[in-house]
Amino acid sequence: MHLELRRRVKGPIDAVERSAPFAARLRRLCARDGRGAGTIWETDLLHAPLPKGKYDLIFARWVFLFLPEPEKHLRRLARALKPGGRIAIQDYHRQTMALYPKPKDWDAMMAADRAFFETQGGDASIGGRLPALYKRAGLVPTEARPNLKSGFPGSAVWTWASWYFLGVMPRLGKLRPFTPGAARRTASAWRAAARRPESLFIAPCVLDCVARKPRR
Ligand SMILES: C[S@@+](CC[C@H](N)C(=O)[O-])C[C@H]1O[C@@H](n2cnc3c(N)ncnc32)[C@H](O)[C@@H]1O
Repeated sequence: MHLELRRRVKGPIDAVERSAPFAARLRRLCARDGRGAGTIWETDLLHAPLPKGKYDLIFARWVFLFLPEPEKHLRRLARALKPGGRIAIQDYHRQTMALYPKPKDWDAMMAADRAFFETQGGDASIGGRLPALYKRAGLVPTEARPNLKSGFPGSAVWTWASWYFLGVMPRLGKLRPFTPGAARRTASAWRAAARRPESLFIAPCVLDCVARKPRR
């Protein structure tokens, strides 16, 4: 994502990345494309000393669903935007997720998926709340566009979802109302569905939520 933004800007961009291995990889990748070094703040978003009124665009994908205090984060980012600048956040509206045929314990799995983020202070479905959060942070919401994918077994979206959800299924099984037994049943229903070409996975919707900082 960072490299794509550099390509579009035709130059360096700044980033906040609190994970040391991710930040190191970012620096290595940026050294290769000849577009120069931006600042990478290797810290939590809330602690990054972002300059006031500097940025034309602030972009985040799949970060806000993890954050315990999204409004506080948005206020800090709004401060770093230039007047007239934009913030664009892509994040989930998770409720569209479905698998056909529907496994018996699917609804409990969805509840466990929500609880998984909530136990860490996040919201897996924060996308739909972003326009109201923008407004509270003094920004003007301008767009909330859905991106929704679906696919049969073997498609990219099926493969991604199976990799992620079958991987976390044992952890989800520890979160009520899901149980370890229900997690095992759901995983085997998912694998059985993968053997039927007419099975369908509908992904969590990703919302493109944009807002503008007022000029005064
Ligand atoms: C699911 S990854 C998304 C990565 C990338 N934005 C993308 O779209 O492919 C979540 C990212 O959010 C970062 N992150 C999560 N909480 C953060 C925080 N409080 N401050 C800064 N970064 C955070 C993680 O280190 C990780 O890079």
